[in-house]
Amino acid sequence: MKFIIRGGKRLAGTIEVNGAKNSVLKAMAASLLFSNPITIKNTPFIEDVLRMRELLEDLGAKVEEGDRMLVIDPTSVRDGKLNKEIAERLRASIVLAGPLLARNGWADFPYPGGCVIGKRPIDIFLSGWQAMGAKIMDGKDHFRVTAKKLRGADFAFRVVSVTGTETMMMTAALASGKTVLRNAAMEPEILSLADFLNDSGAKISGAGTPKIEIIGTGGRLLRAKRPFTVIPDRIEAGSFLILGAAIGKKIKVAGCEPEHMTAIITALREANVPLEIGKDFISVSKPRNLKAVNVQTREYPGFPTDLQAPFAVLMTQAEGESVIFETIWESRFGYAENLKRMGANIFLADQHRILIKGPHHLRGREIESPDLRAGLALIVAALLAKGESVISNIYQIDRGYEKIDERLRELSAEIQRIN
Ligand code: EPU
Repeated sequence: MKFIIRGGKRLAGTIEVNGAKNSVLKAMAASLLFSNPITIKNTPFIEDVLRMRELLEDLGAKVEEGDRMLVIDPTSVRDGKLNKEIAERLRASIVLAGPLLARNGWADFPYPGGCVIGKRPIDIFLSGWQAMGAKIMDGKDHFRVTAKKLRGADFAFRVVSVTGTETMMMTAALASGKTVLRNAAMEPEILSLADFLNDSGAKISGAGTPKIEIIGTGGRLLRAKRPFTVIPDRIEAGSFLILGAAIGKKIKVAGCEPEHMTAIITALREANVPLEIGKDFISVSKPRNLKAVNVQTREYPGFPTDLQAPFAVLMTQAEGESVIFETIWESRFGYAENLKRMGANIFLADQHRILIKGPHHLRGREIESPDLRAGLALIVAALLAKGESVISNIYQIDRGYEKIDERLRELSAEIQRIN
């Protein structure tokens, strides 16, 4: 499937932010820690959620779907082996391994794929589990982790890792004794997950800070008392702000959590983008004098790596030079060639830095989406560009953004989906 986009038109209206991909996927994985069904509200129905559902069902869980809602019943899960084909399509499949290990005493999973944004190693996960007493068998194309008994550990992350922190937190929740996680990631999705687990009988303190302490239940499963509500997707919201800054007459990004978005708000303000910030919305429009600013991606609360591609698109329209410094991933500039073909002036300094000189008009082209965040960036570029663009490989975009074409049409964007 492809998107055909006719660009050059100013957009206006309200766009609602959905639940966060990187929150819902972890809550789905966490279902394996429970002795009863869990309900997840504000679920975005994106491709990655469908893949995660398939993986859970393949393990024996029962999953029901409602209006923006999922009910996952893990009670009949006995299997610990992830379906290779599905798991390889979704990097987040790795977050099932910790809960599986904690529930069953073993987990078997393929090496997670998804190399398009650089190396995605799992060494930290493996050493974390080992510190808790697990044994690792490294097969040719899969891993098997086993533990008769998981015990609490004092574990410092060599590199700050989001899914690593979530995995260790979930594994430790059912271990015996106390676990201390140091140099932990601080993303809001981690805090939200910890709150849900605590509400269900876990004992986790310090989530959202670099030091997390967990007193394990000693193997007893958690019991859900209330539904989990997925927090608003701060990356989706940030991308819509960037869209508004690039071509918005006035766009209201509704249902977001501005407190989770301080880095992108600061960067946009420094670029002269007018923003009106409410409790749960931000309105944005294109400024007359968009200014070039530099950004450096960092762990939360720094500038999110998942927003650097759309921000780079915006910077092609800014007066002056900007440097985008990607410190989290290697090779996350796969989209730059496409932007250059569209007329942008971008110099790839090295694997981690690009220099953009603006402003330059963009022209419609046939382009391919390299990954989901870059895919959305290319949609923004195509909406900015004069003429028609065709974006292929849009499964990548559907992985993280639900019905993006329909939602953008509400802002009067000319975007069609074709086979
Ligand atoms: N790393 C290691 N060893 C490990 C794990 C990670 O060296 O065992 C390194 C990575 O190579 C990377 C750094 O640690 O250089 C940080 O990676 P992290 O583990 O934090 O990334 P992740 O947990 O795999 C999540 C999001 C990504 C987002 C990053 C950074 C999910 C499912 N994915 O990935 O989101 O870019 O954190 O914020 O939560 C996306 O949504 O498009 C996406 C890629």
